[in-house]
Amino acid sequence: MQQKIIILDFGSQTTQLIGRRVRELDTFCEILPYNKFPKDDPAVIGVILSGSPYSVHDPEAFKVDLSQFVGKYPVLGICYGAQFISYANGGKVEQTGTREYGRANLRQFDKENPLFKGFEDDSQVWMSHGDTITAIPSDCHVIASTADVRFAAYASTKYPLWAVQFHPEVFHSTQGTLLLKNFVVDICKSRREWSAASFVDSTVVDLKAQLGDDRVILGLSGGVDSSVCATLLNRAIGKNLTCIFVDHGMLRKNEFKKVMAAYEGLGLNVIGVDASEKFFKDLEGVTDPEKKRKIIGRDFVEVFNAEAKKITDAKWLAQGTIYPDRIESLSITGMTIKSHHNVGGLPKEMKLQLCEPLQWLFKDEVRRVGNQLGMPERLIKRHPFPGPGLAVRILGDITREKVRILQDADDIYIENMHNYTMPDGTSLYDHVWQAGTVLLSTIRSVGVMGDERTYEHPVALRAVTSQDAMTADWAHLPYDFMAKVSNEIINKVKGVNRVCYDISSKPPSTIEWE
Ligand code: XMP
Repeated sequence: MQQKIIILDFGSQTTQLIGRRVRELDTFCEILPYNKFPKDDPAVIGVILSGSPYSVHDPEAFKVDLSQFVGKYPVLGICYGAQFISYANGGKVEQTGTREYGRANLRQFDKENPLFKGFEDDSQVWMSHGDTITAIPSDCHVIASTADVRFAAYASTKYPLWAVQFHPEVFHSTQGTLLLKNFVVDICKSRREWSAASFVDSTVVDLKAQLGDDRVILGLSGGVDSSVCATLLNRAIGKNLTCIFVDHGMLRKNEFKKVMAAYEGLGLNVIGVDASEKFFKDLEGVTDPEKKRKIIGRDFVEVFNAEAKKITDAKWLAQGTIYPDRIESLSITGMTIKSHHNVGGLPKEMKLQLCEPLQWLFKDEVRRVGNQLGMPERLIKRHPFPGPGLAVRILGDITREKVRILQDADDIYIENMHNYTMPDGTSLYDHVWQAGTVLLSTIRSVGVMGDERTYEHPVALRAVTSQDAMTADWAHLPYDFMAKVSNEIINKVKGVNRVCYDISSKPPSTIEWE
């Protein structure tokens, strides 16, 4: 049986990060809402309580019955988790005015405690809390302090229970991964069996059992998730998988052809559908971003369904849904900023069942699985690309000519990014989470080319660093790279006479412009 750590989510921004760190320790974990602890799951080997945007004193603060797991499994409370354990067991949490945000150092810690095995003196930790624990439960003892916070970490003498005020999951807690390893591997006794290879082996066996001789349909988008999903299914059921790849006309330059060739090289059974005519017609004159998204989403489902219905004996619809897609849908504070559209909607009359083999994986794990399956690097390392494609990167209405201009400019940007080598020998493309070009087609500016006045559109280059697209920072691209790209775009792309670089982070901006 696959062991697992349960992470109870109290709504912190970093809950997913805790999950990824545990997976990096080759241990499976599940992130569940704070009040959904699974009863009698024999696979559970430990429990982690996340941070929270709330104070334990807020009337709407999330409260949990700790007796469900304390004393039964090793437990680690992080930030709010630590405060709540104290608050619920006779300790004290107060607003003392000693808020701590940012770096701190562990001035004293219990070197004998297994949680701190291998820790260095003055180890740097990351704090982010308004309330402070001012008293811990009577059966607990303090195991670490910082200059400002006496109860930076404490442990129970009665149960396998630890609590830390700081965030071991974030990069700036320099020995945070070690702390989590001490907890997951030494304390919870993880066998460390979770790996891309073990995932592929067990998933192929499961898919064979689940699908038997049934026919399966899958919508490909050209992106990493659906491509890995298809390759995995292909390994399990071969020709019983039929993939549908719809070209809405707003993909990157030559993307449809290139990706179709890559899929065929992987031995996938793919039907390519050029539906660009329909999309351009339906989008004619539409300028509102949400309307554009809605039309594309609707058309996509129509085209996909028409194609899917031709496969009359299909029983399953496979989707490349990954774990963060599902955790976000459990999000406590989540809100819709843009209506995202993804491949496929279920043609109801077909009564297809859903098959989502990547539903437990984080993005970096999907890439590792792709590697394990022998997929080409360029397909695996692809940046995320929005479902509505270049339509959300063209301000105002969409025409074939505008798409052509944007494709040409974007191609120069992205190809240069692949070809630019960083000091560590990898490409600049691999250093950023996502890059793309935006055509500011509602704006014109004056320029001069040769002896002639120009009055054309600017493009904005966008490149961001991110862990999960929930937050992002603009990438600090090398100046010589930007100079080359700008020069090449203005010289080669008819219709563009100015290049800008977008230096906004998310939040408050978003990654895509529309
Ligand atoms: P925003 O613009 O909201 O984008 O910061 C966050 C991430 O989502 C991608 N994106 C989409 N992905 N369907 C998708 O599958 C969509 O409709 C869609 N819109 C945006 C965006 O590229 C970024 O990676």
